[in-house]
Amino acid sequence: MRSILVANPKGGSGKTTLATHLAGYLASLGRQVVLADLDRQQSAAGWLKRRPAQLPTIHSHQHKQASKPDWMVIDSPAGLHGDKLSAAVKLAELVIVPVQPSAFDMMATSDFLRVLREEKAVRKERSQVAMVGMRVDPRTKSAAELAEFLLAVEFPVLTYLRDAQLYVQCAHEGVSLFDLPPSRAARDAEQWQPILEWISV
Ligand SMILES: Nc1ncnc2c1ncn2[C@@H]1O[C@H](COP(=O)(O)OP(=O)(O)O)[C@@H](O)[C@H]1O
Ligand SMILES: [Mg+2]
Repeated sequence: MRSILVANPKGGSGKTTLATHLAGYLASLGRQVVLADLDRQQSAAGWLKRRPAQLPTIHSHQHKQASKPDWMVIDSPAGLHGDKLSAAVKLAELVIVPVQPSAFDMMATSDFLRVLREEKAVRKERSQVAMVGMRVDPRTKSAAELAEFLLAVEFPVLTYLRDAQLYVQCAHEGVSLFDLPPSRAARDAEQWQPILEWISV
């Protein structure tokens, strides 16, 4: 089984959005997917409950439902640190860190990355880490500031996802971009390509 952890200490940075979309994408390819929700707020679990029954199945618990999952996508809570962070990173072959173009988010992320790069699984390169810019409008000054911040980060920057109501709608409806007709989602799905290549399904 392959596994992806989505983590950032900041609330609202886009973890659940990324995690639910990764699960939706992998399920759309016919993979057996478990979406594990470590957050007490259970946003990803709630999304799964809203997911229309006719869409490709995503499991919420590994043992009960999917006997042999191909993938586990792990959504994590804000403020994940210490032993819980180490345990989550150890579980994950891939770690994706979303970051928004805001000074508060970049500061919190910078502290988090310092901790993350000291995790044994990361040091030993058993877990690969990559960054994703979230809710980025390339025309703004803050987008340039985010790009500058990410230049100094040693982990690869996969892509920038734009701020779009479609993500808010997807959250509401229990779907991902990859469940929608291409005519509705093409522009945003294109921005996902580098992430999909990086996870190399
Ligand atoms: N690219 C985006 N465009 C528009 N809204 C977004 C985007 N990414 C996330 N959101 C919205 O921002 C809010 C916080 O995102 P969420 O994924 O829940 O963050 P986290 O899980 O890190 O707290 C949610 O309401 C979500 O729908
Ligand atoms: Mg969340």
